Amino acid sequence: MILHIFNNAEEIGKAVANLIIEQVNEKPDSVLGFATGASPVPTYKSLIKAYNKGKVSFKDITTFNLDEYCDLPKDDKNSYYTFMHENLFNHIDVKEENVNFLNGNAEDTDAECVRYDDLLTENKIDIQLLGVGRNGHIGFNEPSNKFTKGSFKVRLSQSTIDANSIYFDENPMPHYALTMGTVSIMKSKQIILIATGRGKADAIDGLVNGDITPSCPASVLQLHPNVHIFLDKAAASLL
Ligand code: F6R
Repeated sequence: MILHIFNNAEEIGKAVANLIIEQVNEKPDSVLGFATGASPVPTYKSLIKAYNKGKVSFKDITTFNLDEYCDLPKDDKNSYYTFMHENLFNHIDVKEENVNFLNGNAEDTDAECVRYDDLLTENKIDIQLLGVGRNGHIGFNEPSNKFTKGSFKVRLSQSTIDANSIYFDENPMPHYALTMGTVSIMKSKQIILIATGRGKADAIDGLVNGDITPSCPASVLQLHPNVHIFLDKAAASLL
């Protein structure tokens, strides 16, 4: 696990974008795993800038997103589908047919999870981008008593609902989501996790120094051979 500590989120965004650009320029048909939330937004801004300057093309990449809310229309302003299109996909040349999401509105969620896991088996993720919850979740793998394997439907924890409900000004936030499982995330060739702010310091301490335990799902990353953790000083303050 390699730690990179920066002064602010913008610097992190540039550094992480550079790693992704290097990857895509070396292997134009890279498979990239993306996350939503505040943490990767500066990275997405830097990727868009680099694309506009002609430094990289995403026309042959394939993408997989970590998670999606259940029972929220795909084009709702708070769906992760909308988030990714507004924050990245609409501004670069990725092909829509190469963009993959879990369908949180699938009637048969078990079949939907199998469909996604089959695609992930066929398309090994080169770089998986992650944020981390204040409770140590990665994707929506919430603290529990066992590590999860493949994609599944999860009831979100109160901590996650409290953190994310700020985005839901009109309608209540969904309490369920579909998420990639921990073992699927761990199969990625490289993992880049971003965390900023004091609110993430406990989770980062657990991730880096804690026991490997499903009560802090991010701690499993200690077992991955190629993990880069990008932090600001506040997120790194307990290390
Ligand atoms: C989002 C996701 C979550 C977030 C985490 C941190 O796709 O899977 O694990 O990465 O909740 O969210 P932010 O970055 O908003 O603090």
